[in-house]
Amino acid sequence: MSNSSEQELDKLVGDARTAIRTAEDLATLDAIRVQFLGKRGSITRQLKQIGTMEPSLRPRFGLAVNRAKRTLELDIERRRDQLKDAAVAEQLTQDAIDVTLPGRGSGVGGVHPITRAMQNMEDIFAHMGFETASGPELEDDFHNFEALNIPPDHPARAMHDTFYVDASTLLRTHTSPVQIRYMRAHPPPIRVIAPGRVYRCDSDVTHTPMFHQIEGLAVDRTISFADLKGVLTVFLRNFFETELKVRFRPSYFPFTEPSAEVDMSCVLCGAAGCRVCKQSGWLEVLGCGMVHPEVFRHVGLDDEANTGFAFGLGVERLAMLRYGVDDLRLFFENDLGFLRQFR
Ligand code: FA5
Ligand code: MG
Repeated sequence: MSNSSEQELDKLVGDARTAIRTAEDLATLDAIRVQFLGKRGSITRQLKQIGTMEPSLRPRFGLAVNRAKRTLELDIERRRDQLKDAAVAEQLTQDAIDVTLPGRGSGVGGVHPITRAMQNMEDIFAHMGFETASGPELEDDFHNFEALNIPPDHPARAMHDTFYVDASTLLRTHTSPVQIRYMRAHPPPIRVIAPGRVYRCDSDVTHTPMFHQIEGLAVDRTISFADLKGVLTVFLRNFFETELKVRFRPSYFPFTEPSAEVDMSCVLCGAAGCRVCKQSGWLEVLGCGMVHPEVFRHVGLDDEANTGFAFGLGVERLAMLRYGVDDLRLFFENDLGFLRQFR
């Protein structure tokens, strides 16, 4: 019995060592460990057999099994280290960076066309002596409507498609509330523009729910409608860098009297008529007029001693015409192919 048991053990150890030496990866090695040394492994089974042996044979066989176990454990440990080193070496060659490959280069960004148009506009007005002011996008009813001579039941409110936050707070529908804030804080003479975002519940090829306006305001003793026409004509011709056609069309705003809307010949279709100008050949680009006496009274200015003009222009409309873009919504889709053309 003793002899055959030991022969069997020797054979087992021999098989195990060969398997360990030739294991190709850590998972296989672990399977081998379980096969021989695990709870139900063949070496472990040999250990359990000791109890069934003749007592005199037990010490010698026990020693042999334990030695075999220890030998295999060391073999496994050594093989595991080898496999781990090989895996690290493999990883290193795979992750190696070929420093001779050409680089990808970093893309240079550009200013958004709306931002660029606004900067151009601000520059042109700055040359005519206008300072820049600003006001909050979250406005109250008083500044957006009431002080601009649009009382609660005024029909003009219906034209504004207002986003209300609560009964008296709203997203400003135009930049005109900045007129009120500015006149309350600064005595005349005033020459100021106020660029910024405005919001209306409206969307099609020439309307988006958020867009930009630039408000203009001039207040002094002898400001006239001729000054207004001059400033706007100079502005438009500078912005478009051409002697374009401009028309002042009588209109109505509660906060100006008289009021006008300014149209430009549609440069997208050469005034022949297209979907952007709704086949009219003209595109409305701004509203303007002489400051209404009621507005002066709301800000505490003497409406006899002061006169002024105000205007509010749509930045996107002008940018569309300037850059030949036929859908206003393109400006807000952030399509890189579109934006790259403006770099
Ligand atoms: C106003 O907003 C007045 N506050 C302008 C004004 C200021 C008049 C000072 C008199 C004195 P209106 O709603 O027409 O007016 O808008 C002015 C310009 O904003 C329009 O001419 C147009 O160019 C642009 N605009 C209006 N609605 C939109 C929209 N939904 N999307 C893009 N642009 C718009
Ligand atoms: Mg309008």
